[in-house]
Amino acid sequence: MPGPGSRWWPGATLYQVYVRSWQDSDGDGYGDLNGVIARLDHLEWLGVDGIWLSPTMPSPDDDWGYDVSDYRDVHPELGTLADLDRLIAEAGRRGLRVLLDLVPNHTSSAHPWFVEATGDPASPRREYYVWADPRPDGRPPNNWLAANGDSAWTLDKASGQYYLHNFLASQPDLNWWNPAVHQEFTDILRFWFDRGVAGFRIDVAHGLYKDAELRDDPPAPSSDLIGGRYGLAQVYSANRPESHAVFRDWRKIADSYPSPRLLLGETWVTLDAMAGFHSEDDELQLTFNFPFIFADFTAEGLAGVVGDTMAALPAGECPVWTSSNHDISRFPTRWAGGDERKARLALLILATLPGTLVLYYGDEIAMTDVTVPVELRRDPMVPGGRRGEGRDRARTPMPWDASPSGGFTSDGVQPWLPYGPHAERNVATQRDDADSTLNLCRALLALRHRAFGGRLVSYEQLPAPAGVWMYRSGDLTVAANFTGQPVPLPALAGDVLLRTEPGGVH
Ligand code: GLC
Repeated sequence: MPGPGSRWWPGATLYQVYVRSWQDSDGDGYGDLNGVIARLDHLEWLGVDGIWLSPTMPSPDDDWGYDVSDYRDVHPELGTLADLDRLIAEAGRRGLRVLLDLVPNHTSSAHPWFVEATGDPASPRREYYVWADPRPDGRPPNNWLAANGDSAWTLDKASGQYYLHNFLASQPDLNWWNPAVHQEFTDILRFWFDRGVAGFRIDVAHGLYKDAELRDDPPAPSSDLIGGRYGLAQVYSANRPESHAVFRDWRKIADSYPSPRLLLGETWVTLDAMAGFHSEDDELQLTFNFPFIFADFTAEGLAGVVGDTMAALPAGECPVWTSSNHDISRFPTRWAGGDERKARLALLILATLPGTLVLYYGDEIAMTDVTVPVELRRDPMVPGGRRGEGRDRARTPMPWDASPSGGFTSDGVQPWLPYGPHAERNVATQRDDADSTLNLCRALLALRHRAFGGRLVSYEQLPAPAGVWMYRSGDLTVAANFTGQPVPLPALAGDVLLRTEPGGVH
């Protein structure tokens, strides 16, 4: 078991680098690993403790890296294994840990396992995936739906069987009932941990196992974003209890390293189910909190879900606070409607709640969504349904400065996704402005280090006037004022450490 002090993530800040959009080092319009190395100074200056790199493994990029064709290498467009080793070392010199994105729910259809499984139905690889015969009338085996709203089954004409894909047809789901799949991933985990990777963000952590009988998903009680899909509740196509045993095994591996490795799940589930992935501190150490992400940006909305989160998590387990990522609208747009004052209030809240903060690239300058014209869109996971607007809006190049390329690539190079209004909002301009959101964010991260000091502190909601949410986070008293007007507050003990308009921290 890990020794005391080995849990470095309570009170820490992670930063999600969407590699393709962060910094292009070779002038091809795509960000890459050498670009990440070139910009590590920014993260050190900002005061983050670790980075999560969006998918880095070889992939045909039907889903921009979430369709992996080799789990033990680096995508040639992003760099080489040697570049990744260098990135881990360079980050380490700056006190930054590096997490990778692991995609265990499905592979790419170009992965050699799937190529073998379709090429030779008698091969042992066949059972790496989920196959089923058509219904008597030829329809797919059941009613499960993929993330784009189409059937989750595609017919393999050669064998006459359907295979399952909860995402694109080129992302066949793995069959976790097969012990050989377990073994593959235990080896993959060790491969990266042995190279110094500090942990993984685990893609679709709630999805690994499917119902053994492939029963139909029941109708969803509401159009809820959590746990449902196009009117169906994902009761059988995901969210199966058997997945917990996988994470218990992985946790043992993670804890077997002298510096324990971190498992951070993408758990697109209710708070109770999310808490279940921590179990008795023997599964995932951290889980993404989607009910918080989708809460109303009001004092009542956020206070409610934060209170519920604290009540749901087992004692001692560390919550995660984040509100932007590569799949959803960025919070300066979704929560703040583009109003920078509200985005600053959101940062204040995210940074002062007890637990781990995960920033998405650009959050630190209140980067908003960018409208990407249809003809320039690159994300195929869009048709119909709730993702109708697509995800490209939150994946555009990082605005480093006001130059024509925003400092992202060489001037004159076409970036893979269009630039936003970077002349107005960029890192360089905000660094020079003591009152900027960037400098506020940096002050907040420094405050976290001072106030939380690597500990999971307590949380308590305090009485407050309407439209204000007040809470104690360890020794900090935070007043988050959503009214847009000054509000007189009860006299507070202690010094005002930081004040933003509206809002403040004592
Ligand atoms: C996760 C990823 C998303 C991807 C999907 C399928 O939700 O965050 O980007 O499309 O899984 O891998």
